Amino acid sequence: MNYNPSKIKVISAGKYVPETIITNEDLEKLVETNDEWIVSRTGIKRRHRAVDELTSEMATKAAKNAIERVNYDVSKIDLIIMATITGDQMTPSTANFIQAQLGLTHHVMSFDINAACTGFVYGLEVAASLLQTGRFRAALVIGGETLTKIVDYTDRNTCVLFGDAAGAMILEPAFHEHHNAYFFNAARGDTNSTLTVVNKIKMDGKKVYQFAVDAMEQAIHKVLDDAKLDISEIDMIIPHQANERIIQSVSKSTGIPMEKFMLNLAEYGNTSAASIPLTIAEYFDQNEIKGQKILLVGFGGGFTWGSAILQL
Ligand SMILES: CC(C)(COP(=O)(O)OP(=O)(O)OC[C@H]1O[C@@H](n2cnc3c(N)ncnc32)[C@H](O)[C@@H]1OP(=O)(O)O)[C@@H](O)C(=O)NCCC(=O)NCCS
Repeated sequence: MNYNPSKIKVISAGKYVPETIITNEDLEKLVETNDEWIVSRTGIKRRHRAVDELTSEMATKAAKNAIERVNYDVSKIDLIIMATITGDQMTPSTANFIQAQLGLTHHVMSFDINAACTGFVYGLEVAASLLQTGRFRAALVIGGETLTKIVDYTDRNTCVLFGDAAGAMILEPAFHEHHNAYFFNAARGDTNSTLTVVNKIKMDGKKVYQFAVDAMEQAIHKVLDDAKLDISEIDMIIPHQANERIIQSVSKSTGIPMEKFMLNLAEYGNTSAASIPLTIAEYFDQNEIKGQKILLVGFGGGFTWGSAILQL
């Protein structure tokens, strides 16, 4: 099959992180754990917690950060895709609440995506395809989570891993090859309850770990092959921030040096669908944007996994 890549212009990125912090020492008071164990097994030192904030409110702040970065004309935004597993409520969608909080009164199509930690990469692929039709002027793709509301703080296997945040990107359709965007997204339905949320997060960490390393490696190779690019042509890999050891294993198995992977999980832990856009926003904060190529790679419950190559 001939792969006809979507063309998208990356306009901006933004983030929002709640102020309240949960340190490893705080968790020592809740479960039998310690800073040394958490840091050596995961690389996580802190995570942030939304105390009185809804996912939609954090997502709106991340969107505003993206809008303000480039002083964007919001009347152009006519597509909002929100990736989350911790939406405000079942319906209306969290994307609808974001539309209202941004004060957008013109015609906007807005909806949520649930693909767990891969949700943002899924959302990007959907947005890119829709933008390519020419029907939309600009898309806001957001990942946002209040995971601390579904974490079981009596379960040391999971409570050390997760935090809250939101990240957003603004995209426009493009028409030049220079703006080719490549995607790979997949799912493998898991009936063994390896990683589930009924009321609280439950996980078989070892099984997720094994899946994650294989999935990330495959997703990196697949999108590079489709784009006919060598890893040396990629400026930065922005991986889902679940566990530093998972990324070290991927670095080892692929031979891609650790310096090529942008990491911020020491500060935020795993923020699920927010993790990749939050990290992209920090890339925007720390670098002058001048046509870099970034490779996004994620995995999550479901199982889901995916990757993307974007030109900034
Ligand atoms: C969860 C994870 C950090 C555990 O690390 P691990 O090296 O696999 O640790 P193990 O499962 O071998 O556990 C070793 C021991 O540490 C214990 N342990 C688990 N959590 C602990 C904690 N927070 N503090 C101290 N000890 C802990 C376990 O109970 C186990 O004890 P036991 O041997 O007496 O049963 C790791 O498996 C992981 O990161 N998995 C992927 C999770 C993930 O990314 N999920 C999100 C996907 S989007």
